[in-house]
Amino acid sequence: MLKIGVLASGGGTNLQALIDAIESKSLAAEIAAVISGNPAAYALERAKRHDIMSYYVKKGSYTAQDDYDKALADIFNRHGVDLVVLAGFLPILGPAFIREFERRVINIHPSLIPAFCGKGYYGIKVHEAALASGVKVTGATVHFVDEGTDSGPIILQKAVEVKDGDTPESLQRRVMEEAEWILLPKAVGMFAEGLLK
Ligand code: GRF
Repeated sequence: MLKIGVLASGGGTNLQALIDAIESKSLAAEIAAVISGNPAAYALERAKRHDIMSYYVKKGSYTAQDDYDKALADIFNRHGVDLVVLAGFLPILGPAFIREFERRVINIHPSLIPAFCGKGYYGIKVHEAALASGVKVTGATVHFVDEGTDSGPIILQKAVEVKDGDTPESLQRRVMEEAEWILLPKAVGMFAEGLLK
């Protein structure tokens, strides 16, 4: 069974989507560990409620990026993690981490890459930028993580309509409901079945 390690800094609704897919047996995988860079992340609480091992790793405790990367990788390796899922993880991961899990790290981003992605585009800022630009369609993307920001090979994308009167918050919610929570378990399932090259 595929063992997943999840990195999450926020509310953890994408983590929840994975938990729900696993519990409803639509995804054959196991979440082996959850790591957060934020001790108050609700993602940690969700993990605890479902008896998933969870860790808070403070980036500030490490002076070198490599040491931080190693600390994260050590936790996942201890749990035998096959696939790392970034689900709203804010700290930057260094090349040491990416190389350790080469082609085994995926990320969910709340836009249709290559729009509204890269440095500075995270969280609500992505939806603010989409609204400011006037696009009528946005969406979400699951992609492999490489050493750049939001630049690895795209796995899945789903479009979501921008509606008149949308606020960044209403758009964020619709992108989550109509795209993110569907795409992420689907992409993990494709990885588990060996469908991703
Ligand atoms: C999601 O919008 C995800 O696409 C982005 O960060 C947000 C995390 O939300 N990378 P949650 O913590 O899963 O609720």
